[in-house]
Amino acid sequence: MHISAKVNTMEFSGTMQISGKAKELKAQGINVIDLSVGEPDFPTPQRIKDAAIVAMDKGHTGYTLASGIVPLREAVGLWIEKFSGVKYAANEIIISNGAKHSLYNTLQTIIEKGEEVIIPAPYWVTYPALVEIVDGIPVYIDTTSENDFKITPLQLKAAITDKTRAIILCNPSNPTGSVYSKSELEEIGKIVLENDLYVISDEIYSRLVYDDFEFVSFPSLSPELKKKTILIDGVSKAYSMTGWRIGFTAADKELISGMGKLQSQMTSNPCSISQYAALEAITGPQEDVEEMRKIFAERREFLYNALNEIPGVKTANAKGAFYLFPDFSSFFGKSYNGTKIKGSFDLAMYLISEGQVATVPGSVFGAEEFIRIAYATSMENLVEGISRIKKAVAKLQ
Ligand SMILES: Cc1ncc(COP(=O)(O)O)c(C=O)c1O
Repeated sequence: MHISAKVNTMEFSGTMQISGKAKELKAQGINVIDLSVGEPDFPTPQRIKDAAIVAMDKGHTGYTLASGIVPLREAVGLWIEKFSGVKYAANEIIISNGAKHSLYNTLQTIIEKGEEVIIPAPYWVTYPALVEIVDGIPVYIDTTSENDFKITPLQLKAAITDKTRAIILCNPSNPTGSVYSKSELEEIGKIVLENDLYVISDEIYSRLVYDDFEFVSFPSLSPELKKKTILIDGVSKAYSMTGWRIGFTAADKELISGMGKLQSQMTSNPCSISQYAALEAITGPQEDVEEMRKIFAERREFLYNALNEIPGVKTANAKGAFYLFPDFSSFFGKSYNGTKIKGSFDLAMYLISEGQVATVPGSVFGAEEFIRIAYATSMENLVEGISRIKKAVAKLQ
């Protein structure tokens, strides 16, 4: 059997490994509380499901334009403009099979072999994998919890070489939930323009922010920065539509045309029915998005307080997405029943086997001292999950 070196050296998504383990235990009848998943637990709102049924009934079941139906591309432009004031025409937008696919198209379109892409760590696991798939080189900037897991201008300047092509900003961040302020983004923007870099701004969680935080979208900073930004968004998180596989990319029309060429050869259009559902999602009444956001906000408050009450655990109350990223390193080096916790992976495995609660080790995101806890699950599950974590870590000596 021959498997190419590229695929052979690739790893399965680290977050999926853990949720896979949780699913396996559940299949054995074990009651696992799953705090590892990166998807909302709400059903897709009824109005969106109804729109999909209407689309099928109307016969929208054939191929569409490879880059997505024009009404959806136009609607995405208006949806972005309403949110952040930035205007994009239909030919500056492409619809893809989820934001992950949007990111792949982007990197494949702008990166030459051996070019560097700056990735702040902790990072979403897919970024380095995609950069490597397109033969680019991921260059990491390590951030700290003291700096709210955000890069500083000095760090960014130091990471840039003559091979740097782009930086990926995940704002709000998966896994940390951190958000950048306008002035922080402006400082990054200045360096980006000085060095003629692209910013791949992954804003898929931008509609899920809390404590009245005013989210600032990167391309809204200035027309010059808009030209250098490739904006990634989609319906997966804010509309609870992870399975529908619709992502959006907004950028300069030449880049979008390049991505359209690539997509037309690789996958053709994303699912026609999902496109009509996404059209309803972003153009219909938006109350459901706000209802879900409010529920996330309540869960986040509970989780923040409950985690900080566990002796040895510290966490900030991150303002975005649906994750907290607490520091559990005080348990490293401790043991229970012959199991020694050497790092975050051991800890996550211990929490599953001893506490039947699934979390994601920070190691998969490039940050060893932490674990990621998602609050995209019911309050009941969060209460039980935290209680199990508390009991499990109390046993460590
Ligand atoms: C930061 C970030 N970007 C993009 C995605 C991908 O979204 P989609 O499901 O639309 O491919 C995710 C999903 O976990 C994510 O966390």
